[in-house]
Amino acid sequence: MITFFVVNGILLVISLLLLLAERFLVTYGECSITLNGDKTFSMLGGDNLLNYLNQHKIFIPSACGGKATCGFCKLKVLSGGGDILPTEEVYIDKKEREEGLRLACQVKVKKDVEIYIPEYLLGAEEFEADVSHITYLTHDIKIVHLAILNKTINFKPGQYIQFKIPGTDEYRAYSVASSPSDKSTLELLIRLVPGGLCSAYVHKVLMKGDRVVFTGPFGDFYLREESENDIIAIGGGCGMAPIRSILYFLREKGMPRRVFYFFGARTKKDLFFTKELRELEAKFANFKYIPALSEPEPGDKWEGEVGFVTQIAEKYIGDKRPKEAYLCGPPPMIDAAMKVLTREGVKPENIFYDKF
Ligand SMILES: Cc1cc2nc3c(=O)[nH]c(=O)nc-3n(C[C@H](O)[C@H](O)[C@H](O)COP(=O)(O)OP(=O)(O)OC[C@H]3O[C@@H](n4cnc5c(N)ncnc54)[C@H](O)[C@@H]3O)c2cc1C
Ligand code: FES
Repeated sequence: MITFFVVNGILLVISLLLLLAERFLVTYGECSITLNGDKTFSMLGGDNLLNYLNQHKIFIPSACGGKATCGFCKLKVLSGGGDILPTEEVYIDKKEREEGLRLACQVKVKKDVEIYIPEYLLGAEEFEADVSHITYLTHDIKIVHLAILNKTINFKPGQYIQFKIPGTDEYRAYSVASSPSDKSTLELLIRLVPGGLCSAYVHKVLMKGDRVVFTGPFGDFYLREESENDIIAIGGGCGMAPIRSILYFLREKGMPRRVFYFFGARTKKDLFFTKELRELEAKFANFKYIPALSEPEPGDKWEGEVGFVTQIAEKYIGDKRPKEAYLCGPPPMIDAAMKVLTREGVKPENIFYDKF
């Protein structure tokens, strides 16, 4: 038994020494990244592709900030990327692997690298903004208004931006909660995640007047404007954000489509924007807002729907009209909603979601 611990201890120390040696002693000299066969950037190797791209103002989706937990930073490495790492395997299927797809945050640049990024992913820019307003919406969600400096942003309702955590090189994704027609102010809804770096910064440090940096827009969770299908929106927590942006967009168009919006919360204190959603309902007969509480407290005096939001949605959406669904919230909610919607005949290609 003692031998087992000694051997493991020695192996652990050797691994740590190798990691430190690679970090501080190994240099890879001058390397280059060639993008789409035309742009070439030179740098001293050793860091990952994602960081080098960011340094050269090329912003690709990277919602987890490089921790290999989102799988968003996929790009094609044509040469020089080395072997795929175990951390990438879960996000890159066999076909993608054959095509050379890799996670940019996991590819260390040790020699010249050639990459391909499709044109539609190259539209994101970096923005500076001042916090013009920040306040609590619920006990754990804050709304942050960002007044963009010197330029404007074009985004689709439902898309997200990546907020740079001040003093770090880390980013976190936040869906835009405001209308795309306001191109100079963005509203974000940010929930405090216990032990979370960015959300704690926003909740405990960020103040009105602070200057921040973000990149965007990103994401393929956005309203399919060309469609005439009824919309089933299902949200929970900060999943309210992209759906609110979609609703604001539709409101400005005169609510041309029938919309059912199901919002799930635990108790009444987790509900927000109720007044504005009820006003929207009063204005447009084809918009219906259905909040559902899973664990109402006696003091809530709740007379609305009780149960999981997906069970409640199932009660309402039985008719045969063609439908499109927009889902945003925690992964278990999205998975349950997918099952309900497909059972109710919504085609999988008409179901769009962001899980977080
Ligand atoms: C496309 C997209 C859009 C998003 N939009 C929003 C939004 O509008 N509002 C919003 O508040 N968040 C949103 N998020 C989540 C957000 O990007 C961050 O993940 C979240 O704020 C936590 O970051 P952090 O730095 O505070 O926590 P971290 O320091 O990254 O994480 C700390 C710990 O918390 C865990 N953790 C991370 N995220 C969550 C989570 N969401 N729930 C529970 N535990 C978690 C981690 O596993 C880790 O253990 C979105 C994510 C994606 C991918
Ligand atoms: S940035 Fe999330 S996996 Fe690379």
